Amino acid sequence: MNCSALQHGGNLNAAVKSYGIPRSSWLDLSTGISPYVWPVPPIPQEIWQRLPEADGELEQAALHYYGSPALPIPGSQWAIQQLPPLFTPRRVWIARESYEEYRHRWQLSGHQVCYYDTLPDSESLRQSDVVIVINPSNPTATLYSPKTLLCLAQALECHQGWLIVDEAFMDATPTCSLTPHLQPSQPILVLRSIGKFFGLAGIRLGFVLGNINIRQQLLERLGPWAISHPTAWLGAQALRDCLWHQHQRLRLIKDAERLHNLLTRYIPAERFDITSLFVSAILPLDQCQFWFESLARQAVWIRRFPNWHRLRFGLPIPNRWEKLEAALSTLG
Ligand SMILES: Cc1ncc(COP(=O)(O)O)c(C=O)c1O
Repeated sequence: MNCSALQHGGNLNAAVKSYGIPRSSWLDLSTGISPYVWPVPPIPQEIWQRLPEADGELEQAALHYYGSPALPIPGSQWAIQQLPPLFTPRRVWIARESYEEYRHRWQLSGHQVCYYDTLPDSESLRQSDVVIVINPSNPTATLYSPKTLLCLAQALECHQGWLIVDEAFMDATPTCSLTPHLQPSQPILVLRSIGKFFGLAGIRLGFVLGNINIRQQLLERLGPWAISHPTAWLGAQALRDCLWHQHQRLRLIKDAERLHNLLTRYIPAERFDITSLFVSAILPLDQCQFWFESLARQAVWIRRFPNWHRLRFGLPIPNRWEKLEAALSTLG
């Protein structure tokens, strides 16, 4: 059920169809979703039965976790789609290598997209520009400090512009997050996701933080029951589970290092870029195709970005590392 015009990771059905290998044989490394899922408890009958009521529990848990008021939304993708029509047509800066939904959605709403390799400086900004930063970036792993982004936000504010920061992959590095620094009147928006770090992509939950006027407009677009009751109930508990957060951060960072070491042994990449949830490799285009195809033939599904000569590997679940190593070792 993917209605977007763009290709995304997690499309295992496409892999099954193209390579004729049964679904259960695949090792899916095509997303940046944690291999460790927050331990979902049994859901009481009443939670399934009753309509979600705004009791504030999810908002309170989010305020505690992010350090700023947060509007719950059905996944950060929802905000990526809803934000562009809220702005009059203008120039929008997007990193050249970026989660492609941004370019697609802002162009659909009639905005002029321009690309940056390094963040635009004050002289490059025009009146009412929007700058979008994925921090850390998917797929490049570039990570900007709050200081750098607050400076950029100040420059944008002088031009009546806006800063939008997508922190879908931020949870393992919370000190780099902008969320504790937000003021409700500032022209800054931050998107967060419950899908990646918590491994709960299926429940479709995310948050928008920052400017209160935009949060209000998004709230009106949400309508009464956009977040299901089980999702809100689980989300609140996951956000409050501080011991699990600490444990999760450590093991993800450890696993990302392990993945980096493993890939370095076999793949002659020009460079590897690492976050806590994926490792990506820059290679000549023919090598990208070779590794993607050869791994797929061994039922290892990764993400390729041919335009950027890049392959991205998510973290394997604990008992499937051998499968990845076995596949790599027959090729490297
Ligand atoms: C950078 C980035 N932001 C947002 C999303 C959307 O995530 P979700 O809607 O599951 O919160 C994705 C999905 O892959 C992503 O890569």
